[in-house]
Amino acid sequence: MGKPEETQLFKPSFAFCCFMKQVFVTRALPQPGIKMLNIRYKVEVNPYDRVLTKEEIISGVKDADALVCLLTDTIDKEIIDSGSNLKIISNYAVGYNNIDVNYATLKGIIVTNTPGVLSETTADLAFTLLCATARRIPEGDKFMREGKFSGWAPELMLGTDIHGKTLGLIGLGRIGMLVAKRALGFDMRVLYHSSSRKPEVEQELGVRYVELDDLLKNSDFVTLHVPLTSATKGLIGKKALALMKSTAILINTSRGEVVNEPALIEALKEKKIRGAGLDVFWGEPTNVNPELFKLDNAVLAPHMGSASLETRSKMAEMAASAVIDVLVGKRPNHIVNPEVLGA
Ligand code: GLV
Ligand code: GLV
Repeated sequence: MGKPEETQLFKPSFAFCCFMKQVFVTRALPQPGIKMLNIRYKVEVNPYDRVLTKEEIISGVKDADALVCLLTDTIDKEIIDSGSNLKIISNYAVGYNNIDVNYATLKGIIVTNTPGVLSETTADLAFTLLCATARRIPEGDKFMREGKFSGWAPELMLGTDIHGKTLGLIGLGRIGMLVAKRALGFDMRVLYHSSSRKPEVEQELGVRYVELDDLLKNSDFVTLHVPLTSATKGLIGKKALALMKSTAILINTSRGEVVNEPALIEALKEKKIRGAGLDVFWGEPTNVNPELFKLDNAVLAPHMGSASLETRSKMAEMAASAVIDVLVGKRPNHIVNPEVLGA
């Protein structure tokens, strides 16, 4: 991660900087994303290793031509209004539910995200969580460290098989599709449900489209790969959980709010499903429900789907490229609100 001083390698003189475009970055990002911006613009980067407050973002955005932000920043009307020169909001994430995109569009501000580069990495994590939950890896690790291992035993740490089982994908976008490929490599049967059918993917991978209820009833593993929208909020609630097999495992690497978390906690406590592997939470980042920590049948990860060195660097370059494109008057590659350009 770039330290604050690294971002100031290039110090423009005051007279020069008045003509320079300004970029505000809400958190130090991996190089070379910051370098790409630093050689062209006056860049201000959050000097702290924490999420900025709303007031801090407002003050940073005030004179900025571009804002680079994270999924942990809520970019609302007030923040957007505070940026009178703002031309682009470049989100360092594929999901952009943290931004009031409609309002940005209304104000003629381009919003971009970082899809594609993180899909394989996030699919790796989703599948890793699936394996870790099925085979109780964190429990086993804890058991070892606590010195409880006294030898191989017929019934020690029995998990559930992955191969030969049925995976139900909710959402078949880039990430969903890549999770399907991993599942096929494990000899799983793959069902999917999504807002639109994908006949070419069905053909290519041999995955089968089913209605949501059928997916829930028939899958041994259910994994979520939808964006958070008003249509997907709370998609997996009490009713959906009740349809799932008592032996099923739920994997969520999308957004916490796609699942009704209290309903999930209850289902896990009462063993209505076997387990859950979760990378995202309602109370992120600081108020994750402590009830989850008590559950042996939940495997928890700190929102690290895209967290590989390679991918986070690529995301930083992509977020920086979007800023540069917009500030030189080019159309950026991954625009979330193309209607802002009249397209
Ligand atoms: C991560 O959750 C992302 O949206 O990039
Ligand atoms: C990720 O790139 C997705 O939208 O699936």
